[in-house]
Amino acid sequence: MSKGHTVAGWIVFALAAAACEPRAERPAEADILAARQAALSFDQRLRREIIDRIVREEDPVAVYLAYADNVPGWGTEISNAARLDFSRTALGVRNPASAPDDWERRQMELFNFLADSGQDPESFEAAEIVQEGKETVFRWLRPVVMGEACLTCHGEALDSRIKLLLGQEYPLDEAEGYSEGQLGGAYSVRKVLSIDGKPPPPYATQPRPARPAGDAQLTQPAAVEGLQ
Ligand code: HEC
Repeated sequence: MSKGHTVAGWIVFALAAAACEPRAERPAEADILAARQAALSFDQRLRREIIDRIVREEDPVAVYLAYADNVPGWGTEISNAARLDFSRTALGVRNPASAPDDWERRQMELFNFLADSGQDPESFEAAEIVQEGKETVFRWLRPVVMGEACLTCHGEALDSRIKLLLGQEYPLDEAEGYSEGQLGGAYSVRKVLSIDGKPPPPYATQPRPARPAGDAQLTQPAAVEGLQ
């Protein structure tokens, strides 16, 4: 991690902290490093298993089906391994289960504001300790930028077969119409540090999420061939 990244990250952190109630407590470096590592694991896996296949010009429908079968479970796998809650979110989501909470929405609006004012999103990072009811929680967020390959499923001119598959599974999709370089959401980490001032119980591992609209139509080859 370059020094520039860290410094800019703390500027974002300071702005974010000033925007809500001020808290003197700074997040532990170990928690920030664990959050970055979780995001990096997701990023690398997405590149290896999905993005590289699009770059190799494999059939986008085959890549989409691999995505739909696997990617939504990765957040849970990373969370269970690192014993923190890792997820993806966006201001306009495709997967309703990824809708942001107030803290995430505020940070993403701040990221958009900073990006619009010409700052490099690669340097943005928010890290904060917040009180949520009885829980004292470490929160962390980093933006994701839409690259060219992402536009296969998030761009303006989608392949008609991808559009149909998305319509089946995500009828309320708000994550289309992006162009390259736009902020497309964020990686988010949440970790409970204490409850009522006492250490939290051991991390309870999460089950894999269910598919939003069932996967019957998506995995029937006939349904996909019929689209071609
Ligand atoms: C093969 C199609 C496909 C590609 C390529 C793809 N996405 Fe997605 N993306 C999806 C689907 C489907 C979902 C919803 C399922 C889920 O939660 O993973 C999604 C969800 C997301 C989310 C979570 C928030 C939401 O809208 O539900 C983010 C953030 C995101 N994508 C960003 C990206 C970025 C950045 C890239 C490129 C690096 C990318 N995607 C590439 C299909 C794709």
